[in-house]
Amino acid sequence: MTVLPIRVLGDPVLREETTPVAAVTDDIRRLIDDMFETMYAANGIGLAAPQVGRTERVCVVDVEGAVYALVNPEIVQAQGPKSKAEEGCLSIPDVYGDVERPKHVTVRALDRDGVPFEVSAEGLLGRCFQHEIDHLHGKLFIDYLSFLKRRSALARWEEEKDQYPGFIRHLKPGAHVSEHPDEEL
Ligand code: NI
Repeated sequence: MTVLPIRVLGDPVLREETTPVAAVTDDIRRLIDDMFETMYAANGIGLAAPQVGRTERVCVVDVEGAVYALVNPEIVQAQGPKSKAEEGCLSIPDVYGDVERPKHVTVRALDRDGVPFEVSAEGLLGRCFQHEIDHLHGKLFIDYLSFLKRRSALARWEEEKDQYPGFIRHLKPGAHVSEHPDEEL
C-alpha cells in the first residue's frame, strides 16, 4: 500500500464531478487500500478520491472503528433535525468551520468486493459520509459557510497555502500531522 500525496484547495480536481465506477476491479481495490493508508497517515477519518487526484466515485471512512469503503455512494435518505458541528478537511489543513447538515442519513454504495449495501448513520459518522460524498461532487465544507465565515476561512487558508507548492500535501507514513484529528475528513 502507498501513501498518496493529498491535493489541497486550489487544485481543480477537488471541484470536478467524479465518474461512477463501472466495475470494482483490482485497480479500484488498490485505490481503496492506498486511500485508507493515506487517510491514516494524515490522521483523518475520511478521504475521497479527488483528494488524491483521482476521479473515480470512491471514498473511505473510519470513524471510531466504523470502517467503510464506499464505491458509487449515494444518500438515499436524509432526515432532520439538522445539526451543526465543526468540520475540517485534509485538503484544507488548519481551516475549520461550523457546518449544518441533516442529523441522520442512509447511504447506499458498493463495498470493496462490489457488493451493494446500505448503512444508516447519525452523529460524526453520518456527518463524515455527507462530507465525503460532497467531495465526490466537487463540493467542499467551506461552501456551506456564511459569507463572512467563508471569507475568514479563506483568509486563514491564504496564510497556509504556500506550504503546499503545486497544491500538493506530502505525508509521511504514520505521521500525525493534525492537531484536530477527529475533525479532518
Ligand atoms: Ni474533506
